[in-house]
Amino acid sequence: MNNFVYNIPTKVYFGENQLGHLGQELAKFGKRVLLTYGGGSIKRSGLYDRVLDELRKANLEVYELSGIEPNPRIESVRKGVEICKQKDIDVLLAVGGGSTIDATKFMAAGACVEHDPWEFFGADAKPIERALPIVTILTLSATGSEMDTAGVISNLETGDKLGRLAPALLPRVSFLDPTLTYTVNRYQTACGAVDIMSHILEVYFNTQEDLFMLDCFMEGMLKTVVKYAPIAIAEPENYEARANIMWTSSWAINGFINGGKRKAWSCHPMEHELSAVYDITHGLGLAILTPRWMKYCLDETTVDKYVQYGVNVFGIDASLDKMEIAKRSIDLTEEFLFENLGLQRTFTEVGIKREDFAMMAQKACRYGDIKGFKTLTPKDVEAIFEMCL
Ligand code: NZQ
Ligand code: ZN
Repeated sequence: MNNFVYNIPTKVYFGENQLGHLGQELAKFGKRVLLTYGGGSIKRSGLYDRVLDELRKANLEVYELSGIEPNPRIESVRKGVEICKQKDIDVLLAVGGGSTIDATKFMAAGACVEHDPWEFFGADAKPIERALPIVTILTLSATGSEMDTAGVISNLETGDKLGRLAPALLPRVSFLDPTLTYTVNRYQTACGAVDIMSHILEVYFNTQEDLFMLDCFMEGMLKTVVKYAPIAIAEPENYEARANIMWTSSWAINGFINGGKRKAWSCHPMEHELSAVYDITHGLGLAILTPRWMKYCLDETTVDKYVQYGVNVFGIDASLDKMEIAKRSIDLTEEFLFENLGLQRTFTEVGIKREDFAMMAQKACRYGDIKGFKTLTPKDVEAIFEMCL
């Protein structure tokens, strides 16, 4: 087992009626707050008014940036950086899903440098040493951005969607109230569940030596998603379901489950190219790719991990033949994604075309072959794309 560093300093207020602490938490960082949000769901749900109320009570000076897109664009980040600099912002408050939080992270970092925020991305990326403090109110359980060091930004001019990790991007405080996700529709609830599941599978399916304790945690979190996502879809106001999914979203990607593993993720770099070109929802792209990637990687050298997954997560009979258990585990994953969650199952259904495969595969491997569960070259990525048609 490798050595590792565990450092997750985000303070979390979990549960209903915690927003009363918002003003006091923000005030610790200063007076001038930039409130960021997306296309208006927070206005429709009444959350916007509740937040402004708390900010007023704490006598904070509030500036706003709305309209942050799903698959957030670098233009929104630039707008936020400008406001931070012009208004001498002390703290940023992101209210929304992963897109709003991600964009806000790079506004916070961009405010501390002179160069364009797009220079934080790509092969020659500039360092992120500092960022203004970030506080979040999460409204959609999916990305884990509320408690991680990552963010992903799209640039339509270059046709790229690129991620970046930096400890300075970790939110200082996050408010996780499951009732704020009651208004998330079936589709986004399903896509969020797949994203959470994928964050776990990217680490779980790994040929490096495992830490048994972490594998048990991951299996528990996978079972939580499989159990509660269909309930949240059927009963959007089921607190138990929304709460279990919300806390799993944060723990799936906050670094805890890595336990020193250094293997690359596989489905995420492939999916980001789909979102970059077709602007599809991240979780939908992952749903289509994941079972095909699992099929592509299955052989005698990897089969044991599928057996562990199939038996411990889906309860498949451990006495069956190993290969049979592995194939059944993939079938059950598909059944969950496409039948229980109701997501589309092929590229053809969502309009993704073969003519872009070679280009997207090259870009998915822009930093070299993907050295994940199985090493994937651009040719392998193309082959997985073919299986998705
Ligand atoms: O924009 P508004 O009006 O708020 O509507 C949003 C948006 O249309 C809506 N929504 C959010 N909360 C809602 C709600 N609708 C009703 N009620 C609520 N309570 O849902 C739509 C999708 O929102 P978005 O923020 O785009 O979704 P998500 O949280 O899935 O974020 C996706 C983005 O995060 C990136 C993805 O690539 C994608 O760009 N990721 C970020 C990661 C990270 N920071 O670590 C890791 C992930 O792997 C992922 O790549
Ligand atoms: Zn993801």
